[in-house]
Amino acid sequence: MWALSTFLLLLCLQRVKSDEAAAAAPRRPNIIIIMADDMGFDDVSFRGGREFLTPNIDALAYHGRLLDRLYAPAMCTPSRGALLSGRYPIHTGTQHFVISNEEPWALTLNATLLPEILKTAGYSTNLVGKWHLGFSRPEYTPTQRGFDYHFGYWGAYIDYYQRRSKMPIANYSLGYDFRRNMELECRDRGVYVTDLLTTEAERLIKEHADKEQPLFLMLSHLATHTANEDDPLQAPEEEIRKFSYIRDPNRRKFAAMVSKLDQSVGRIISTLAATDQLENSIVIFYSDNGAPSVGMFANTGSNFPLRGQKNTPWEGGVRVAGAIWSSQLQARGSIFSQPIYVADWLPTLSHAAGIELDGSLKLDGIDLWPQLAGSADAPHVPREILHILDDEWRVSAIQLGQWKYVNGTTSAGQYDSVLTYRELDNLDPRESSYPVTVRNSATSRALSRYDLRRLTQRRISTIRQSATVHCGDLQRSCNPLVEECLYDTETDPCEQNNLVYSARHSDVLAALQRRIRELRASASTPGNRASMAEANPTWHTCAWETFEVQKPKLVPLECDYQGVPC
Ligand SMILES: *[C@@H]1O[C@H](CO)[C@@H](O)[C@H](O)[C@H]1NC(C)=O
Ligand SMILES: *[C@@H]1O[C@H](CO)[C@@H](O)[C@H](O)[C@H]1NC(C)=O
Ligand SMILES: *[C@@H]1O[C@H](CO)[C@@H](O)[C@H](O)[C@H]1NC(C)=O
Repeated sequence: MWALSTFLLLLCLQRVKSDEAAAAAPRRPNIIIIMADDMGFDDVSFRGGREFLTPNIDALAYHGRLLDRLYAPAMCTPSRGALLSGRYPIHTGTQHFVISNEEPWALTLNATLLPEILKTAGYSTNLVGKWHLGFSRPEYTPTQRGFDYHFGYWGAYIDYYQRRSKMPIANYSLGYDFRRNMELECRDRGVYVTDLLTTEAERLIKEHADKEQPLFLMLSHLATHTANEDDPLQAPEEEIRKFSYIRDPNRRKFAAMVSKLDQSVGRIISTLAATDQLENSIVIFYSDNGAPSVGMFANTGSNFPLRGQKNTPWEGGVRVAGAIWSSQLQARGSIFSQPIYVADWLPTLSHAAGIELDGSLKLDGIDLWPQLAGSADAPHVPREILHILDDEWRVSAIQLGQWKYVNGTTSAGQYDSVLTYRELDNLDPRESSYPVTVRNSATSRALSRYDLRRLTQRRISTIRQSATVHCGDLQRSCNPLVEECLYDTETDPCEQNNLVYSARHSDVLAALQRRIRELRASASTPGNRASMAEANPTWHTCAWETFEVQKPKLVPLECDYQGVPC
């Protein structure tokens, strides 16, 4: 009798113990990445822009950490490939241009992607929105590359309401591009896509609230990319009306597109808070690359005061707007001034999730979680970022610590200068009460309970002023088509003083040239392949399909500007 009761008691104690251990084991954090498409460095208001405000995005930066020197490849496909693989585009075959919808290629299948790593570690992995890493075969598409679930589009961009796209080259019709996993998704056509994607992300977050499983959600917006050429900038009328003080009608529409995106950030944060999941979440917002202010897919976005734009080697192409929030960040409410590269997210977030990475991944990104999560004065990690190495266009740019080397350029140099200015008239009427606007945002209301110090008016203006980039005077210009360029981006963020002829900098120059040569020797062949006529939506269902494996129809359908598969 005694023996039995002691045994039961011991059993009971043991059970309590193991329950306690389970409760004490920290749950892996939810990871939410909200990505903007082609939004410029100065299209957020946390650096001092006043033409239109982004109170939710700004609040994320002020309550969390403003990523002052976040770098990304200057175009969609290489940038998204670097995020998901943790590798430079030269190591995944994505270093030259982007995948156009009718081209049969993809991010190399031999890379292990972030969603695969997180899935193996027990995460539910979800992509809502844009993919743009190849779809001509089923094995290239998101649900076969680590995502449990995809709601969105495979290609480069779509119309904001009709979800169709036409590539800007001859011979391909307009095609529908919107799916739930592999199936065409036809519901809710006509709903503004920024809202539609946000609603789907909210649904996933709510559905997740009672689950043990940690959540990985990548909300990959269409905003602020252009839609099809015939109607490139699109936003709901009532949103555009809010910006009636902006005289340029295109810029006014763009402001409305940004505003919808900003509201999306507020909605995601509020939903995490309302479902009690905020405390255990890491939320990152950033743009995949600089804005195309002019030229192809121009959206009027601004990278002021940086040089260049999307698809250029200059800071305006590669230094992007971004912010991170997590209750685990010790220095919440401060600027993170170290250079960080989008390929760093894979090792950095793996660390945050307690995942040990396999050494065979051959990452180019580095783990910056200790610096991001640590104290505000954590010493900088000296690091290399290869911005571009494209021998087809004969352009390379690399940064080593504060030094940046540029050799050659894109588009024959026509987008190499500062392409926009900062609007000083036509200001957002909310600017006069900016701190109140920020603090009243949905994001600020949800995050303020985690603040270490109150977000006062004064703190807001201190951070905003410190994040403002000041250019010096032009000292020694550089023509990258005929000479090499070398800059100290710490003192010269606007790339105005070429140091390549300075004897004092000859060692730095030699080191950067050597690294370019070494990296060139390690590069894969670019994956680009020529367009296939079989890709034409007309030969399928009027939708962009996995055209390398789907038999084209014998008689083309009439898809142009009418046909949709559903
Ligand atoms: C478009 O199709 C026509 C007829 O099939 C062909 O002759 C032409 O070369 C194609 N143009 C392009 C740019 O592919
Ligand atoms: C710089 O560009 C020139 C012209 O394309 C090329 O000959 C040279 O090798 C490049 N330098 C490096 C270090 O890549
Ligand atoms: C992975 O793919 C790239 C690009 O397609 C290729 O260059 C490389 O050799 C491949 N690596 C392995 C280990 O198969």
